Amino acid sequence: MKRSKILGVGHFVPDHVVTNHDLSQLMETSHEWVVERTGIEERRHIVPGGGDTTATMGYKASLMALKNAGIRAENIDFIIFATLSPDYYFPGSGVQLQEMLSPDHTIGALDIRNQCSGFVYALSVADQFIRTGMYRRILVVGSEVHSAGLDMTTRGRNVSVIFGDGAGAVVVGVAEENGDASTDGNGILSTHLHSEGRHARELAVISPSTQHWISHILNENNPDDESYYPYMNGNFVFKHAITRFSEVIKEALEANGIQAGDLKLMIPHQANLRISQYIQQKIGLRDDQVYNNIMRYGNTTAASIPIALSEAVAEGRLQRGDLLMLAAFGSGFTWASALIRW
Ligand code: COA
Repeated sequence: MKRSKILGVGHFVPDHVVTNHDLSQLMETSHEWVVERTGIEERRHIVPGGGDTTATMGYKASLMALKNAGIRAENIDFIIFATLSPDYYFPGSGVQLQEMLSPDHTIGALDIRNQCSGFVYALSVADQFIRTGMYRRILVVGSEVHSAGLDMTTRGRNVSVIFGDGAGAVVVGVAEENGDASTDGNGILSTHLHSEGRHARELAVISPSTQHWISHILNENNPDDESYYPYMNGNFVFKHAITRFSEVIKEALEANGIQAGDLKLMIPHQANLRISQYIQQKIGLRDDQVYNNIMRYGNTTAASIPIALSEAVAEGRLQRGDLLMLAAFGSGFTWASALIRW
């Protein structure tokens, strides 16, 4: 069976920087509180009406990934687009990206909605399509606009200070077909996916949905209705995150007979710097083995891993043959990991 590898990476973040001080003008919070609890110093927000959307940011990140892979959009066989914040309720952003890339190149476009784990889930799907030989080059995108849907008052402060906007993309293709890929080839070695739906409402946006449609919201006209803002049981999410992150990283290491010390880099989903630091300690990784950029972008959900990967590659943090761990946890709850030989 073939193996897949990442051929090129790219990212895009909006220019508009929103500092903790900026947020403290809108809600009762402080730079010190946000940095101490989350590590976040600033994040990016789109400017409403300025042209950036989940789909357009995904497109810009894709152009960079395609360029770095040396591949034209017409040579992509399939699109996988992960987001919890699509431009429309339906259709998903995948078809918008298909149109932007090459309108007459009518390849399939799959939308993934696994929130913070969305990128790793999407990568896993791409990996399976390449392994079976169905496709040779797949564009995998994570893109989010959170800023349009946050409660920017003191009521929503535990959520609104955390999330930011941005996009990342990778081109996944066929790894070298010569040699013994099972022992020394590069590419995606394994992916591991999990979910536990009993905690679905601990981190969720409940409406608009078929359970609570827009007409209900408007008819009820209830100023206390928070159902269309993200709800997060922060402490509960934190505790589950550190457990599940650690489990799924160990699962990937054990499945491949690899020790934590063998990893060149781990890129965790950028949920909270304290979560990343806790996992680092629990797995036993040195500072140079963990990549964090949440300080500058906040939590960009499905976009966080590909943005971080794109920056890590640009900084020369990965060389051919290096072992890379990706791991994520988030709403669902869902969690996932991928082990890659770069
Ligand atoms: N600024 C100032 N105070 C804030 C605040 C903010 N932005 N957000 C919450 N607070 C207050 C709370 O109202 C509470 O006040 P009270 O004690 O008077 O009731 C106090 O700070 C402590 O709140 P708590 O929720 O217990 O804080 P915490 O230490 O758990 O930190 C999070 C909150 C959200 C930072 C933390 O729970 C977290 O990071 N959880 C995981 C989030 C995450 O990773 N989500 C994405 C998963 S993919």
